[in-house]
Amino acid sequence: MISADARSVKETERAVSQVRSALGLIDTLFLNAGVNVTRELSQWDEATFDDVFATNTRGQFFTLVHALPHLADGASVVVNVGIGASRGAPGMSVGAGSRGALLAMLPSLAIELAPRGIRVNAVSPGAVETPIWRKAGLSPAAVEATLEHLARSTPLGRAGRPSDIASTVAFLASAEASYITGREVVVAGGLGLGLT
Ligand SMILES: NC(=O)c1ccc[n+]([C@@H]2O[C@H](COP(=O)([O-])OP(=O)(O)OC[C@H]3O[C@@H](n4cnc5c(N)ncnc54)[C@H](OP(=O)(O)O)[C@@H]3O)[C@@H](O)[C@H]2O)c1
Repeated sequence: MISADARSVKETERAVSQVRSALGLIDTLFLNAGVNVTRELSQWDEATFDDVFATNTRGQFFTLVHALPHLADGASVVVNVGIGASRGAPGMSVGAGSRGALLAMLPSLAIELAPRGIRVNAVSPGAVETPIWRKAGLSPAAVEATLEHLARSTPLGRAGRPSDIASTVAFLASAEASYITGREVVVAGGLGLGLT
C-alpha cells in the first residue's frame, strides 16, 4: 500500500510518483481524503480551521497538481465534495467552505485540463454511513440518531451506501462519461431538494 498524509505536499508528491512507478500512467484519480469537523462558530480556532482546509482543500488541490505529469491524456479526475458544500447546518461552515472551494475550482480545472482530454468532475454524497461520522467526535448514539434523522429526511428513504458513491465514481471514470467534464454529480437520494 502507498499512503500519504494529504496535508503534506511533499508526501503526496512522493505518493503519486510511487504510484506512477508501480502502475504506469494514471487513468483515474479519485481525490477522496477528507475530514468532517463540526463546531459551533464560537468554538473554532485557527489551528483547526487550517487543518480542515489543509486536508479537504489544499491536500486535494496539490495531489492533483503533483499527479499532472503522471496522468494519462484522457484521464478522469473525480473530486469528492459533498452536498454540505452548498447547504447549511449549524457547525458546518468550515467544512462547507473547504469543500465549496473545490466546487468553485471545478470549471477552471476542467477547462485547463481539457486540451489533454482530462476530465474533472465532482461527486457529492448526501449522508453516507461511513466511519467519518464517528471521527467527528459524536457518540455512537448521536451518530445513529443523526443518520436516522438524515435517512428520514431523504426522499428515497435511506442513508447512502459507499457503493452508491463508488458506482458513480466508476461511471465518471468510464468511457460512458467521456463527454462529461466540470460537473458535480449529487448522489444523495434527493436529500437537500426540499424547501425544508
Ligand atoms: N460519509 C458522508 O456522509 C459524506 C458526505 C459528504 C462527503 N463525504 C466525503 O467523502 C469522503 C470520504 O469520506 P468517508 O465518508 O468515506 O469517510 P472516511 O471513512 O472517514 O474516509 C475518509 C478518508 O480520508 C482519509 N483521510 C483523512 N484525513 C487524511 C489525511 N490528512 N491524509 C490522508 N488521508 C486522510 C481517511 O484516512 P484514515 O482512515 O486513515 O483516517 C479516510 O480514508 C470525504 O472526503 C468526505 O468528506 C462523506
